[in-house]
Amino acid sequence: MAFDNLLLERDDAVAIVTINRPKVLNALNARTLDELHRVVLDLKRDDSVRVVILTGAGDKAFVAGADINELAVQTPTSGRELALTGQRVFDAIENLGKPVVAAINGYALGGGCELVMACTLRLAADTAKLGQPEITLGIIPGYGGTQRLSRLVGKGKAMELILSGAPISASEAERIGLVNRVVPAAELMKEARMLAGQLAKRAPIAMHYIIDAINKGLEMPFAEASAYEATLFGLVAATDDMREGTRAFLEKRQPEFKGK
Ligand code: CAA
Repeated sequence: MAFDNLLLERDDAVAIVTINRPKVLNALNARTLDELHRVVLDLKRDDSVRVVILTGAGDKAFVAGADINELAVQTPTSGRELALTGQRVFDAIENLGKPVVAAINGYALGGGCELVMACTLRLAADTAKLGQPEITLGIIPGYGGTQRLSRLVGKGKAMELILSGAPISASEAERIGLVNRVVPAAELMKEARMLAGQLAKRAPIAMHYIIDAINKGLEMPFAEASAYEATLFGLVAATDDMREGTRAFLEKRQPEFKGK
């Protein structure tokens, strides 16, 4: 697949997607959003891909937000469509059914912060800065930021970050649970590949259901979410991978999961 604004690389079962508009700090214009959507649907269908890493080109930014040139000319109806489109793309990332690791190599602002929040796990370079500066442009987050940030870090911190618009450091983001781990900038991709490599050895169907149980369960009443978990537990009990995982434990060897 050819893209104008994305790079796609493969390392065995790991796909690495790089948002590639470094001159504008990888800002997300409509074309980039569209390409992200296409690549995500493709990676979802490709059984040989078990984990995805998402990062930004250059050493300055992951993504510095939606492209402000395009934002500046939105009308009420086109603005609504744009937000719905961005939300659809980010929902597709959140529900890819395989772990998506954000390797946050610099600024993750506005739509960039919203994008990392749609990922399954977040590793940040110690130089990264994260935030929702939309308020400084007279707008509000439109790609799920008000909802995902409050779910990730709690209502109080989300209010503070979104109302102030002020970016926070990677270490503060780790402290409040916005990123999973901070690593030295020079080690970011090595660490992301290592994490992705470990995840790629895990049972794919079980990973899919864990992501589903957490994402969907969080939006359900507890009893309903527990029942959903039990159903998924029943489903994984029907997989070859479950037999392999339990047999490997009893035979004191490493399991080899096939995703079946
Ligand atoms: N859209 C379009 N262009 C952008 C951009 C963006 N979001 N962010 C940076 N750029 C461009 C700059 O205009 C500049 O272009 P020129 O070289 O042609 O002047 C280039 O990228 C480099 O940026 P700076 O010179 O500004 O770099 P800096 O190091 O001085 O500052 C920065 C870095 C603090 C990240 C600053 O670029 C900045 O504040 N960017 C905008 C961040 C922002 O407000 N993002 C939210 C967008 S709104 C949104 O995302 C809505 C939503 O929820 C969907």
